[in-house]
Amino acid sequence: MKGIILAGGSGTRLLPLTLSTSKQLLPVYDKPMAYYPLSVLMLAGIREILVISTPGSVPALRALFGDGAHLGLDVSYAEQAEPRGIADAFLIGAAHITGSDSALVLGDNIFHGAGFGNLLRKTREELDGCALFGYPVSDPERYGIAEVDETGRLLSIEEKPEKPRAANAVTGLYFYDPDVVEVARGIRPSARGELEITDVNRAYLAAGRARVTTLGRGFTWLDAGTHQSLLEASQYVQVLENRQGVRVACIEEIALRMGFISPEECYALGRKMEKSAYGHYVMEVARAIGDRS
Ligand code: G1P
Repeated sequence: MKGIILAGGSGTRLLPLTLSTSKQLLPVYDKPMAYYPLSVLMLAGIREILVISTPGSVPALRALFGDGAHLGLDVSYAEQAEPRGIADAFLIGAAHITGSDSALVLGDNIFHGAGFGNLLRKTREELDGCALFGYPVSDPERYGIAEVDETGRLLSIEEKPEKPRAANAVTGLYFYDPDVVEVARGIRPSARGELEITDVNRAYLAAGRARVTTLGRGFTWLDAGTHQSLLEASQYVQVLENRQGVRVACIEEIALRMGFISPEECYALGRKMEKSAYGHYVMEVARAIGDRS
């Protein structure tokens, strides 16, 4: 399975924070925002990842992740010149994913919950068509909204409905079979001039091949697209990390635990950041796991 991180958009809701830097590089507590979506793909066991961003932001993202080899990944980059919608990622990424299943994650979405990695890997194994992740929200008119039966089959999906039929928001994480490129090529821009991911999902629904995993209580899904939600995301991560002494979305730790890199390689990554508590944590995790193996 191939991965795509869509880190597009000009971050206008975060101005002036985004005047001179891209949204996905802003901190969510102790690490850049883009670490969070990358960690989701890594937990799903995906190692070939395309990062799509604006021409202005690609150089900074490339400086952040490089070619991914230090994490046991293969990371490449592509530009989205205009914000043409989420489904445009499959037109830009067509050559990257040809013939493979793919997972798309939005660059400002933060997921956290016990057992998430196992859930991702199970969803990946059972994929037949398209798999979405639902999350109950109190403001459903802001999202894509899915109606789902008790077996997890998608019954209806609407983009930002005025009168929502459910409160189950479709999160910014999508798994598809290889047909998604053709499906995306077949849809037309919506009234707001974008290729809507909801229209792609509706095509899978029409074919009876769309399923939804609802992320229940105890699960956290945040976006970090406004000043308030950015701060809230930082606070969430801070409280959790300080209380439990573990780090959320620590990509070096995930690379180690997934077997993408060795304890020695992980330790060396931490060492480069040893003046920060984050770097220290990476070194400690590497040492603990190295001692056990
Ligand atoms: C997009 C999708 C929407 C989804 C949301 C998740 O909305 O169109 O279906 O629920 O991402 O973050 P947008 O961020 O473009 O408003």
